[in-house]
Amino acid sequence: MIKIRDMHADDVSEVMKIERASFNEPWAEVHFYFELYTRTAINWVAEEGKDICGYLCFWKISDELHINNIAVKEDRRQEGIAQKMIDKLLIFGRKNKSNMMILEVNEHNEKARKFYEKNGFVEVGRRAKYYAHDQADALILTKELETK
Ligand SMILES: CC(C)(COP(=O)(O)OP(=O)(O)OC[C@H]1O[C@@H](n2cnc3c(N)ncnc32)[C@H](O)[C@@H]1OP(=O)(O)O)[C@@H](O)C(=O)NCCC(=O)NCCS
Repeated sequence: MIKIRDMHADDVSEVMKIERASFNEPWAEVHFYFELYTRTAINWVAEEGKDICGYLCFWKISDELHINNIAVKEDRRQEGIAQKMIDKLLIFGRKNKSNMMILEVNEHNEKARKFYEKNGFVEVGRRAKYYAHDQADALILTKELETK
């Protein structure tokens, strides 16, 4: 059974394996440590037994949730693990009276775009040539949350 819990410093080496396999411009290890010690940052891992299969890093800033990183281990994709993390984030957002989620996604990242589209995110802007490795634009996606 998949459990989603807070990320700890000793998870970072496993998280880094997924990060390097998932992105052309992966975060450095130090970036995860920085997030772990940042007051506004919340970092979760999805775990099955002792196996870390995904993670979600976000900031809670005022009444917004900023998704900074989400990835699932390559051989565990399309099993609903990212969906579980987003569902938990929605519950977190409701509890904390957040009114919006925001993130950036590479315009060429079809899988992630489908994932966000399924979850009701809409494109509100674009940062030109945001990604150095392919000069792709970043799409800015948001999802409004019910606050009642
Ligand atoms: C994007 C990512 C996090 C999705 O994780 P996942 O656990 O495989 O996603 P889920 O199984 O929870 O899928 C939920 C929905 O997302 C969409 N989706 C996920 N993978 C997809 C794919 N390969 N093709 C099309 N749609 C996909 C589908 O709508 C899916 O719902 P469905 O199963 O009912 O069709 C994963 O592909 C990943 O880690 N990619 C590399 C890192 C990355 O790009 N992160 C996003 C940065 S902005």
